[in-house]
Amino acid sequence: MKVTIIGTGYMANGIGMRIVAGNHSLTIVGRNEGKARSLAKKLGKDVKWGNLSDKLSGDIIIFTLPYTGIPDVIKAYNTQLSDKILVDISNPVDLKTFELTTPAGSSGAEEIAKLLPKGAKLIKAFNTTFAGILADRTVAGKWVDVFVAGDDQKAKKIVMRLVSDGALRAIDVGPLKHARQLEGMQLIHMSLQKTLGTNGMSTIRIASPIDRTKKIETESYDKAVDNDTFTQNMLQMKKRTNSSPQSPGERGSNSVSGLTPSPDSDDDVLQNAHQMGIAPDADLEHPKELNIAKDVADAERDLKYK
Ligand SMILES: NC(=O)c1ccc[n+]([C@@H]2O[C@H](COP(=O)([O-])OP(=O)(O)OC[C@H]3O[C@@H](n4cnc5c(N)ncnc54)[C@H](OP(=O)(O)O)[C@@H]3O)[C@@H](O)[C@H]2O)c1
Repeated sequence: MKVTIIGTGYMANGIGMRIVAGNHSLTIVGRNEGKARSLAKKLGKDVKWGNLSDKLSGDIIIFTLPYTGIPDVIKAYNTQLSDKILVDISNPVDLKTFELTTPAGSSGAEEIAKLLPKGAKLIKAFNTTFAGILADRTVAGKWVDVFVAGDDQKAKKIVMRLVSDGALRAIDVGPLKHARQLEGMQLIHMSLQKTLGTNGMSTIRIASPIDRTKKIETESYDKAVDNDTFTQNMLQMKKRTNSSPQSPGERGSNSVSGLTPSPDSDDDVLQNAHQMGIAPDADLEHPKELNIAKDVADAERDLKYK
């Protein structure tokens, strides 16, 4: 599949990693071409990049933008979107009040769908998966669920395939109007980050002792895991970092002060949490809470995950 991600931030990085792991063609487009270029280069040698004003390429377009930034981008591309599958991952949440900003009885996805040209198919996905979790691919040794809602069944299946090729479990949650529940679920999930001290390193997953679904729906799962050099490299890097802690001044461009977004370090996950307003008291330079959570997760992973 040919995928274009619009946006160059945390979710562009996290989703981009999953798409490359699934062996799909990827282009990163940003309003700042330098950021698009640097993210593309980080994600892989075959990843292309471009500027927001360029002609749009790809069959699937993923908006990794704030909810409020999406309407202008839709307006700018207009009819170029008409034959595309579009993926909305946004959470229309007011971070000061922790309230949804959408009209009652609607959702961000449904409001975005109203702006689209004829023929464009909108799918809601990835709004409950934090960026750092996508980078890790698993949580506490278990797979990550990605809830997918949409009215066009074919488009939804294609997005689900993209998700499962990236070694995540895609779950069809019905029509696009179920985005209301997905956005509501994530509002609670976001607001619980501070309560639980999880700092963006948690996910919403359906757990059951009786699980008749295949964890991952396509045969390409094992291949995706094998190809997932990002996760392997990241886990190795984390092992090295854990065994030789650096002082803040010794950290490289992935540190909290670095300009390039990267969920490759615990700092970035915390910074992400800060940006979402969910961890105002956490110490960015000494992320103790996160280290504890990671230690537990790593131990569980060793025990349960093959
Ligand atoms: N972070 C998460 O863990 C998470 C999880 C689930 C869903 N989401 C949703 O994913 C979306 C992206 O979140 P993120 O954390 O990746 O944000 P982010 O790191 O702040 O990145 C946002 C990207 O959007 C670009 N952008 C912002 N306003 C724009 C506009 N008006 N026009 C064009 N581009 C614009 C930014 O460009 P510049 O760099 O040039 O400013 C940046 O590339 C949001 O809707 C969020 O609700 C996030």
